[in-house]
Amino acid sequence: MRYQAREVDVAGRVRLVMEGSLTARDRVGVQDFVLLENFSSEAAFIENLRRRFTENLIYTYMGSVLVSVNPYKDLEIYSPQHMERYRGVSYYEISPHIYALSDNTYRAMKTSRRDQCILISGESGAGKTEASKKILLYYAVSCPAHERMTSLRDCLLQSTPILEAFGNAKTLRNDNSSRFGKYMDIQFDFRGVPMGGHILNYLLEKSRVVHQSHGERNYHVFYQLLQGGTDEQLLQLHLDRNPQKYLYLVKGNCPRVSSLNDKNSWKTVMKALSVIGFTEGEVQELVDIIASVLHLGNTQFGEEDGQTYVTTETEIRNLTQLLGVDGEALVEALTHKKLTAKGEEMISPLDLEQACAARDALAQATYGRIFTWLVEKINQSLTLQSDVDRSRDGSSVIGLLDIYGFEVFQHNSFEQFCINYCNEKLQQLFIELTLRSEQAEYEAEGIAWEAVQYFDNKVICDLIEEKHKGIISILDEECVRPGETCDLSFLEKLEDTLGGHAHFTSHKLANGKTRRVMSREEFRLLHYAGDVNYNVSGFLDKNNDALYRSLKEVMCQSTNQIVSQCFRREEVIDQKRPEMAATQFKNSVTKLMETLMSKEPSYVRCIKPNEAKQPGRFDEVLVRHQVKYLGLMEHLRVRRAGFAYRRHFEAFLERYKPLCPETWPVWEGELADGVSTLVQHLGYKPEEYKMGRSKIFIRMPKTLFATEDALEAKRPDIALILQTSWRGFRERSKYQRIRRAVIVIQSAWRGTKARRRARKRREAANLIRRLIKGFIHRHQEYSPDNDYFLDHVRSSFLKTLRRDLPRNVLDKSWPIPPPSLTEVSEYLRRLNMQNLVRKFCSNVLPEWRKQMDQKVVASEIFRGQKDCYPVSVATLFLGSRLESEQVNLKVVQTLGSDKVQYGVAVTKYDRRGFKPRPRQLLLTSSAIVLVDKTKIKQRIDYNSLRGISVSRLTDGILILHVLSEDKKQKGDLVLLCDHVIEVVTKVAMMAGKVNQVNVSQGSIRFCAARGKDCVVDFTRGPEMKITRGKHGHLLVTARQAH
Ligand SMILES: Nc1ncnc2c1ncn2[C@@H]1O[C@H](COP(=O)(O)OP(=O)(O)OP(=O)(O)O)[C@@H](O)[C@H]1O
Ligand SMILES: [Mg+2]
Repeated sequence: MRYQAREVDVAGRVRLVMEGSLTARDRVGVQDFVLLENFSSEAAFIENLRRRFTENLIYTYMGSVLVSVNPYKDLEIYSPQHMERYRGVSYYEISPHIYALSDNTYRAMKTSRRDQCILISGESGAGKTEASKKILLYYAVSCPAHERMTSLRDCLLQSTPILEAFGNAKTLRNDNSSRFGKYMDIQFDFRGVPMGGHILNYLLEKSRVVHQSHGERNYHVFYQLLQGGTDEQLLQLHLDRNPQKYLYLVKGNCPRVSSLNDKNSWKTVMKALSVIGFTEGEVQELVDIIASVLHLGNTQFGEEDGQTYVTTETEIRNLTQLLGVDGEALVEALTHKKLTAKGEEMISPLDLEQACAARDALAQATYGRIFTWLVEKINQSLTLQSDVDRSRDGSSVIGLLDIYGFEVFQHNSFEQFCINYCNEKLQQLFIELTLRSEQAEYEAEGIAWEAVQYFDNKVICDLIEEKHKGIISILDEECVRPGETCDLSFLEKLEDTLGGHAHFTSHKLANGKTRRVMSREEFRLLHYAGDVNYNVSGFLDKNNDALYRSLKEVMCQSTNQIVSQCFRREEVIDQKRPEMAATQFKNSVTKLMETLMSKEPSYVRCIKPNEAKQPGRFDEVLVRHQVKYLGLMEHLRVRRAGFAYRRHFEAFLERYKPLCPETWPVWEGELADGVSTLVQHLGYKPEEYKMGRSKIFIRMPKTLFATEDALEAKRPDIALILQTSWRGFRERSKYQRIRRAVIVIQSAWRGTKARRRARKRREAANLIRRLIKGFIHRHQEYSPDNDYFLDHVRSSFLKTLRRDLPRNVLDKSWPIPPPSLTEVSEYLRRLNMQNLVRKFCSNVLPEWRKQMDQKVVASEIFRGQKDCYPVSVATLFLGSRLESEQVNLKVVQTLGSDKVQYGVAVTKYDRRGFKPRPRQLLLTSSAIVLVDKTKIKQRIDYNSLRGISVSRLTDGILILHVLSEDKKQKGDLVLLCDHVIEVVTKVAMMAGKVNQVNVSQGSIRFCAARGKDCVVDFTRGPEMKITRGKHGHLLVTARQAH
């Protein structure tokens, strides 16, 4: 069987749907007691509680009441995530929780603008204070807040540890039992922002300050101070760390409680005090007072000769120092009392017992007043920040009442009487308000109201509080009546006055059966929740709550500011009797009722599962007892008198619409018609339900359960439909998301591309513009107008140049430079040429260099001079025109070491007759040698060579002029040679006579023999011809040059 119906909302949170868990009712019971089939059966009620408790489901609704069972263990259901889950969610939508109630109350306040209150009740240890803390925390965390409100939020939260330290104690029932009632108002502005707060405290159990039952403790603060105070602090306060040293702390014989950490709590309290705004001085004074209560407890008395005196001087000294009071006056006030009789003041000594009582009364009064002072001080920190806030319209209040539940002990005293009276009043309010709201709902929905039978406890309230006739009046009267009065005389008076009242009886008045379970000092009240016997002993004293005037006088002179604020001088002067404790309590309860009456209530009923404070234990007897005393069955009866279940049309239709084809999946018409159609389809009988104006009312839970079961059966189909639609929706959304993303990316990319293109165009346009402008101004000085253009022209010239640089020495091409680079260009050209030449030269071989040298010399001599020169340029000069074997060996031997370096065949013309003779012309390193086959015909040392002559025509004639002084020489040589340019160049170079070469323009005169000159004439003809000319001249006809 399924145990919880789960719904996953959009955020993925799991919701426990209330109606859903109806299907799990066999195991975890119903979430709302109004759905209990057998609503009048207490056993069924308790069984439902037990089932849920076993499943750790500690909360159950009963209409607008939240029943909470103390789990006595930490359930992880109070995290911020849980708070978040319950925020803004309809009350019945999720599983019952204190947060749901808190949130619902908060929203009701905001929407209806009506003050709200949450009443938390239950017996000691049932979890009231824990519940109120959770509610407070919920508001502190979840309500919207302004910056300046955070301090208020802190104050609200920090008030708890302080009040718990001073007002809570370990009792047998609860390790952290609140010994006072607390009502707290939280004020919200029209936006729902917490604006302030106020605390009212009720009936602090003062007797605990001086006495504790076995196994119980005094108020936490004493132990916290002893454990948490520093050594110096304790020294200064004259305190010992051991609580057993203090008589006010030893009565219960229980200095330590395992579930409490006094040391840490002290730190928490100190921090809280500073958050609340206590000054260091105030904290010190407060601590002094706590210490002085302990010292007061240790103050002892002795008695001698009827005189009572203080035996513990040190304690008095400590008190004097800590409270700043007059020591002697204190001792006097503790051992004597002042009486005023007939206007005269008399002092009468106290006996030992009275002195002890006076001391205890002082301790109780001091502690009680400090507690009230603390509450006031906290209230100051919680008050609205300014009058502006106060006057703001639309502010509302949520009240939080954490008050003791009905108490029934073995021995019930004055305190139980007050507490039970308060509960009686609360029950009255509860019934009244519940009926009122039920009736209001029926009226609003237009459904006939059927009168509900219920027990009206007004009669009991009257019994207690009625003027003159009520128990409280009688008690007050007995306290002030002159003459001997005691608790028993009070009982007699009660019997006299109230005897015969249906809800009152006493040992004396009771019948035999009742009498057996009552002592003589007891009276019995038949409360709405059950019968309680009260023991009258101590009633008068507790009601009197008297403190001797002399003690008040001492205290109001204290230099401790807090003490002097708590004990007012006016109180001593004012002779009027203060109100009795019970009347005071009655008044405050009446006031509380008025306050609550003006608000819309919600209830938290706390139940304690066992006395042992153990998790997981459910003591049925104990729970039954509480169910009874909390009046839960009565409430359920009232709530179930009409219809068990009601829900807004919308919510009902929304949930059950799948069960009817007409309403599924969407009902288009009026909601009420939709619901009618649905219930008719489901076969509801007319008596089973009623249609209100906005809600459907179902009389019996079983009708609802049947519907719920039908829904459960239908669920797989619905799940399938939901899954299909959800998947479709999810995929569509995914597709849409991707599509949107693609479009975004595309447009972004297109945008980027377009922007880039536009930027490029813009840059290009700018460039062109600059170029054009530069071009227009190109002839001007370098300026921003033309810099770009000029730079561009220059750089492109240089780039072109780099690309088209001449690659060899013969290449004379060179790009035309822009005007501004003419000089540079020229320089570069030269540089390049030098470079090429250098490169060229370094690559030339030695023989080619020689060739070049010779050609250069030839060029110097013949270029433009001799006609056959151009033809010769292309012909290489050879190393020799004769092979070595062509030169006769004999000639070589004759020459010896003078090696032949060049040889050529020539024709020599005789000096006389010009007869041509073939000869070899050899050039050695030192001379020109003319050889005829084997014979050296003539040798001309280079030194003897005077010059060389040639004609300017194409002929091959060369004439070697020798020095006429040289006797060895026969005369100048006339030679014909095919390679005249080469031969002349070589001879001139080897002889070092380059400058002595004469290219003659006309005839050449030469010396044929000593003293005899001859002439060679030159002329041009069609053919080369050498003949004897006129006058004995040699006539050379050279071929015409082309
Ligand atoms: N919701 C809860 N979750 C866990 N533990 C809890 C819860 N409620 C109460 N308790 C336990 O029960 C103890 C008693 O609870 P609490 O002090 O609230 O009781 P009370 O009703 O205020 O009693 P008293 O009337 O004595 O002040 C707590 O100290 C805590 O240990
Ligand atoms: Mg409490």
